[in-house]
Amino acid sequence: MTQMARSDRLSQPLTADVARFLSSLSFDWRLLGDDVEGSLAHVQMLAQRGIIAGDVAQKLTQGLLEIRRRWEEGTLEPRFEWEDVHMNVEGRLHELVGTDGGYLHTARSRNDQVATDMHLYMRRTGQTLQSQCLTLINAIVSVAERTVDVVMPGYTHMQPAQPIRLAYHWLAYANMFRRDWSRLQDWAKRSDLSPLGAGALAGTPYPTDPEQTGQTLGFAALYQNGLDAVSDRDYLLEFLAWASIFMVHVSRLAEELVLWSTPEFGFVTLPDGFSTGSSIMPQKKNPDVAELLRGKGGRIYGHLMGLLAVVKGLPLAYNSDLQEDKEAVFDTVDTVQSVLSILPGLVHGLSFDEVRLKAAASAQFTLATDLADRLAQTGMPFREAHHRVGGLVRQLLNRGYTRFEEVNPDVWEDVAPDIPYSWIQELRPEQAADARTQPFATARPSVVQQIATLKQWIQGADNSSANPAGG
Ligand code: ARG
Repeated sequence: MTQMARSDRLSQPLTADVARFLSSLSFDWRLLGDDVEGSLAHVQMLAQRGIIAGDVAQKLTQGLLEIRRRWEEGTLEPRFEWEDVHMNVEGRLHELVGTDGGYLHTARSRNDQVATDMHLYMRRTGQTLQSQCLTLINAIVSVAERTVDVVMPGYTHMQPAQPIRLAYHWLAYANMFRRDWSRLQDWAKRSDLSPLGAGALAGTPYPTDPEQTGQTLGFAALYQNGLDAVSDRDYLLEFLAWASIFMVHVSRLAEELVLWSTPEFGFVTLPDGFSTGSSIMPQKKNPDVAELLRGKGGRIYGHLMGLLAVVKGLPLAYNSDLQEDKEAVFDTVDTVQSVLSILPGLVHGLSFDEVRLKAAASAQFTLATDLADRLAQTGMPFREAHHRVGGLVRQLLNRGYTRFEEVNPDVWEDVAPDIPYSWIQELRPEQAADARTQPFATARPSVVQQIATLKQWIQGADNSSANPAGG
């Protein structure tokens, strides 16, 4: 039995080192439930097609259910002399039902079996990730709702640029994560194919019914070609690419939290429950959670590059190189799920220094564009207005000013006799924000509408993830 996976073709047993090297059991154990699900559908089809006897199918089904029950309750021990989860299920089945266990692998190969398992696993995982994405988007939208009336400086090139509403900043992230949700939706449609029945590579000579097993397992369709079915890892590469883009979004958000929580910025206070102290410096409050959120993308991009390199140039069909897909994908799933379980709580716990944000919103002459626009409204070409205000800002900086409202009427008369002083009295960050009224811009009504649109989308997305087949 310990040599169950060993064929009589081979005259020597594996050494322990080689067996360990070949084994995927330490990481594919998590597939056991999906492996059993695939086998149950396969057994049912074999019996219906008269390929195995009804009473044998009954025994195999009972045995498989028992194995899954023990795995679920945590009492099934992985046996490392069986090299992977598939051989473990089959080995346990032999223990439970005797030699009839040997009928399970009729008209099937581990190549279509592992592909089936991974498809089932990824489909369920994608659904979980989608609902976790919605939780995150909800958290961000609720921060946006409470920061509509907070103004802050928007940045380009990391230099203060123009005043925006804080909610507007958050809504940018909400939309990134909304695309991540949609990308998962598109990926799920493309990946929803059953490879079961392709056998090792060519199909099988038994009168099987792959349509039926595909349907039993809830797949939308079959692969068109069996060679492709057993060698395709696109759905995993695409998933890793999805995760990489998602982690880019997370890292950008996390970086801003790290930056904004420095005393130099002082825009946000991170919740204490998401911060740590220093082992040496008693005064420290460190943004470790945000830093790890920023850093975890690195391993995900690595997994994408790693699997691309594994699959690149690989001849058809199955090659053991493909076993390397699992650690990359499983670590990515675990990492992304841990990120998605942490991030909404962090976002909910943020507290913003509205006074500081507002003060920063007009510092460093962020209202200069608005002054130039006002000049342009008098008929002056915008480029000329830009030069005029640029020169003015340079003069004021030389005199030690950092914002228009600090300048008194006498100084103003001196530096800008051509521009009415009342104009700079009217220059306020809220007004600058509200002057930008396009639907995607930062005016209050636009921001409120952006929030409403997202909330409406969330409701629709919630329904379509509850019913993915219809979505
Ligand atoms: N453990 C293998 C994997 O993860 C299962 C498929 C093995 N197939 C084979 N022909 N050796 O890819």
